[in-house]
Amino acid sequence: MPKPPINPRKIVVFSGAGLSAPSGIATFRGNNGLWGQYRLEDVATPEAWSKQPQVVLEFYNERRTQVANAQPNAGHRAIANLESRFEVVVITQNVDDLHERAGSTHVIHLHGELRKARSTVDSALVYDIGAAPMQIGDVRAAGGQLRPHIVWFGEEIMNYHAARAHIVDAGRVLVVGTSLTVYPAAGILRHARNAAEKVIVDLDVPKRPFGFRLMKGSADSVIPILTAAWLKDSPNSHQP
Ligand code: OAD
Repeated sequence: MPKPPINPRKIVVFSGAGLSAPSGIATFRGNNGLWGQYRLEDVATPEAWSKQPQVVLEFYNERRTQVANAQPNAGHRAIANLESRFEVVVITQNVDDLHERAGSTHVIHLHGELRKARSTVDSALVYDIGAAPMQIGDVRAAGGQLRPHIVWFGEEIMNYHAARAHIVDAGRVLVVGTSLTVYPAAGILRHARNAAEKVIVDLDVPKRPFGFRLMKGSADSVIPILTAAWLKDSPNSHQP
């Protein structure tokens, strides 16, 4: 199939836990990462849910409280601000809602959302539960016991095709705060176009996909610098 033309006004942001780290939310890997404190098999798999649902709910209740008490940082806000001059699609692996709270209007969650729960009987029944803790015995009329609306290891990623379709015509791609170790999410970046401007912002030097320029530093300080430059030379910035 022929590739669509690149849209110079379109930016795709692909974010991971490092973007929310300056807001006080733990990343998964590295120093103090969640997967150093918990065995992911114990809290983030369908097997864990069948064996010890209470432990799983407690793990996500803790995450939900942490996010509810956190605020979007300057990185989230700078990304939202790009919408003043660009068509912006945020593809995130994060399960927090800090992009939305910063003002981004088009956010695609690949790994689910903490503030949602869904039926264990019919996965199409998804409910917004906000920051409220989940309990065993939380049921909805037709839905039976609710579970976190989170992609566990071994489960299928959400919204993969929609995300991939968005990256193929993006004129600019910003990857931020992800170790790019979890597939198929990270594989979406292979569909970014050669001619697109591609930047990765990270504290460290993670795996760098082909054609990406690295801006090393913390998301909350580096992204505002990058987005200010992009806004300055946006396609319509010289119009009266
Ligand atoms: P990781 O914890 O694997 O990686 C976090 C990345 O953020 C690393 O590359 C860090 O160097 C970088 N980082 C940390 N602090 C930063 C900061 N202040 N500014 C910029 N970068 C910073 O997190 P993810 O790549 O998001 O999946 O993890 C991917 C998936 O693995 C998650 O969505 C989750 C996890 O298991 C599920 O739960 C399904």
